[in-house]
Amino acid sequence: MKATAKAHTNIALIKYWGKRNEPIILPTNNSLSLTLDGYFTTTSVEFDETLTKDQFILDEQVITGEQYERVASFLDIIRKLAGKQLYASITSKNEVPTAAGFASSASGFAALAAAGTKAIGLGLSNMELSRLTRQGSGSACRSIYGGFAEWQMGKKEDGSDSYAIPIAPAEHWDIRVAAVVLSSTKKKVSSRAGMKRTVETSPFFQGWLDSIPQDLTTIKEGIRHRDFQKVGEIAEANCLKMHATTLGANPPFTYWHDTTIAVMQKIQEMRTQNIPVYFTIDAGPNVKVLYLPEYEKIVEETLRSLSGVADIRLSKPGQGVTYL
Ligand code: ADP
Ligand code: DP6
Ligand code: CO
Repeated sequence: MKATAKAHTNIALIKYWGKRNEPIILPTNNSLSLTLDGYFTTTSVEFDETLTKDQFILDEQVITGEQYERVASFLDIIRKLAGKQLYASITSKNEVPTAAGFASSASGFAALAAAGTKAIGLGLSNMELSRLTRQGSGSACRSIYGGFAEWQMGKKEDGSDSYAIPIAPAEHWDIRVAAVVLSSTKKKVSSRAGMKRTVETSPFFQGWLDSIPQDLTTIKEGIRHRDFQKVGEIAEANCLKMHATTLGANPPFTYWHDTTIAVMQKIQEMRTQNIPVYFTIDAGPNVKVLYLPEYEKIVEETLRSLSGVADIRLSKPGQGVTYL
């Protein structure tokens, strides 16, 4: 009763930012992402009759507290689905900084869902696996698929129609993402807490929601035609709208550092020099830069020369969940 799975993180081009149902994680809007080959999680789950509770080891550390509870409650859902009351030993390795805005919850819960369901003997379709994964971390439901995936918010309140679908595989388009590492330390406001505060208090939240259908239509058109400018412009604008909602929250907050703004300004300056680059930022200070392969050298050199940049990690489109 043991299985190991690997899942990559994804970067949202149209952001998931808001829940309409917190316990089972139903979003307020559709979102769309690109799975990245550069960052991933590998997780092993072994169910064991002799255990009296789950144990969770992440990056060689025994985990307790909130991170443990999130994993144990997710395994409760898997146990219920399988109709088996067995505890597990979970060992995970993040090839991505944890809780720093690089989407570790996406690769982490996608790998956990895949390994956990396989270990307990459930044979789920990708659709069922994505729907289950959603309940661990919303963004994770998109990491079941490689390439571009869209999380359809669904209409039903039981969540049965809320899962990701593939939009285009990794092979469709070799678009690249440079992750500009400014800080790998744990963020002060988790994605979960940040979006909750925003939904509850930000007067800008409704404006954010109203703008999404048009962004989605346009970006999907751009992806289909491999129109880099169209995809980049929408992704950058969508990211700025999401981050604007946090400034309207009570108490107000931002995920940005001073260096975040410096990188954004550099990207915009590069465009004036005819280098086609765009940025997007998840819930954290680090910037992800979209570019095409022929600009890789200039993008990497320029970003590395900026002060405050600790590292640059380059990604191609990544594959969906795999079993090892
Ligand atoms: P991030 O930007 O890294 O996704 P979040 O605040 O969304 O930040 O989520 C971070 C949380 O995700 C961690 O505190 C932990 O609870 C969970 N997480 C991260 N990696 C793993 C993993 N490999 N297995 C299980 N849970 C994980
Ligand atoms: C800004 O999926 O990490 O990265 O569902 O509460 O676990 P929970 O939140 P999470 O939120 C991700 C927010 C985002 C945008 C995105 O990935 O779509
Ligand atoms: Co996350």
